Amino acid sequence: MMALTYEEYYGDDFFRLKRVEEILLDTIRQYPVKDYADGVEPILYCKSRIKNPDSMIHKLKKRGVATDGKTAIRETHDAVGVRIICSFIDDVYKISQWLSTQNNFTIVATKDYIAYPKPNGYRSLHLILKFHDGPEQGIQAEIQLRTIAIDFWAALEHQMKYKKNIQYEKTICDELKRCADEIASVDMSMQALRDIIQNDKWD
Ligand code: GTP
Ligand code: MG
Repeated sequence: MMALTYEEYYGDDFFRLKRVEEILLDTIRQYPVKDYADGVEPILYCKSRIKNPDSMIHKLKKRGVATDGKTAIRETHDAVGVRIICSFIDDVYKISQWLSTQNNFTIVATKDYIAYPKPNGYRSLHLILKFHDGPEQGIQAEIQLRTIAIDFWAALEHQMKYKKNIQYEKTICDELKRCADEIASVDMSMQALRDIIQNDKWD
């Protein structure tokens, strides 16, 4: 069977989803860069996507609900997804705080997998937000904030999850967990070093 296109699946809502994606990226671009004195930008880069029809249908099937695009918009919150990659953990929380002050959407849930990592070692801050007015009304989106070191880890871990019958799976999972914990420790050291360097300026 030919895969559905985004327009065929989401219908007119596809353009609302695209608009939400655009608004979020535009908003994030306006994040004020104040003390850029240490030479490291708070946001290294962003990635975004509209969830493709196949994976959305798969998700809805797992939930045991109808699999059409209208149900997707109503029942899920990640048809629009944006990922913000930072250098430092503090920036993750500062940006999330700032996003909560923006007026075209509200944050309806926060999942803090940095303070409470998943058992596999996954760490990120997830925000689920909702648009309340205008043409985007009712659309939800998920923003994931994480450090670049964790992003590197998550990309490999994600690949592993989608491969079936990997040899030495247990060993690989254990190693991934060990790496995630080391990365978290390095992220904390880098943050501490940055704080010291910033507070130690005499010029
Ligand atoms: P879905 O997994 O999206 O059905 O929703 P959920 O309610 O389980 O949310 P969760 O916060 O677990 O995951 C949302 C998204 O975060 C996923 O689609 C991934 O993009 C990312 N994510 C969550 N857990 C992991 C993980 O263990 N590894 C990686 N690489 N990504 C993860
Ligand atoms: Mg999940």
